[in-house]
Amino acid sequence: MSMSEFKLRKENKNIILVGFMGTGKSSVGKRLAKILGWSFIDTDVEIERLTGLSVTEIFRRHGETRFRSEERLLVRRLKERVNCVIATGGGTVLNPLNWEELAQSGVMVTLYAPLDVIYERIGYRNDRPLLRGDREEIEERWEKRQPIYRQADLIIDTTDMGIDEVVQEIICEIKGGVSDERAEN
Ligand code: S3P
Repeated sequence: MSMSEFKLRKENKNIILVGFMGTGKSSVGKRLAKILGWSFIDTDVEIERLTGLSVTEIFRRHGETRFRSEERLLVRRLKERVNCVIATGGGTVLNPLNWEELAQSGVMVTLYAPLDVIYERIGYRNDRPLLRGDREEIEERWEKRQPIYRQADLIIDTTDMGIDEVVQEIICEIKGGVSDERAEN
């Protein structure tokens, strides 16, 4: 798909996926990038590669502040990219500078899901330090982040959607319709 095929409100150099943990940013991003023939970057994975530590290890050994500065450094580099689908960590865009720079570099797409659905999807996993702990605290974090996620150019409620449906929805919204050939991919 060439860039000229995109029907866009703003210059569409990249697609940036934001939203709370467990909303499907990485799975959707990977598939979306494949269909578009773009590259894919998952900020958590990139930070793990750069530091040689898992996200959990970074939090455990160095704390959240260190993780957030790794995110900040990465975003500063990512904003130069084009034709890239970027799946951010749930907290990446809490830093207004990160939001601003990413929003300048492409279309911001929020994947939304209510907390119950998020627990159903990833509640059993232990690779998210900020999803551990008591439910009230997590609920508070979820609530607090919603106004930030709502600033996106496009918001998709993923509650009853599979990964492919979300991918197609993004393509439809951004491109203004998807051909049969693409839909079959
Ligand atoms: C975080 C989300 C995680 C990861 C880290 C912190 C957050 O990414 O960056 O555990 O603050 O919401 P996912 O959203 O990909 O789970």
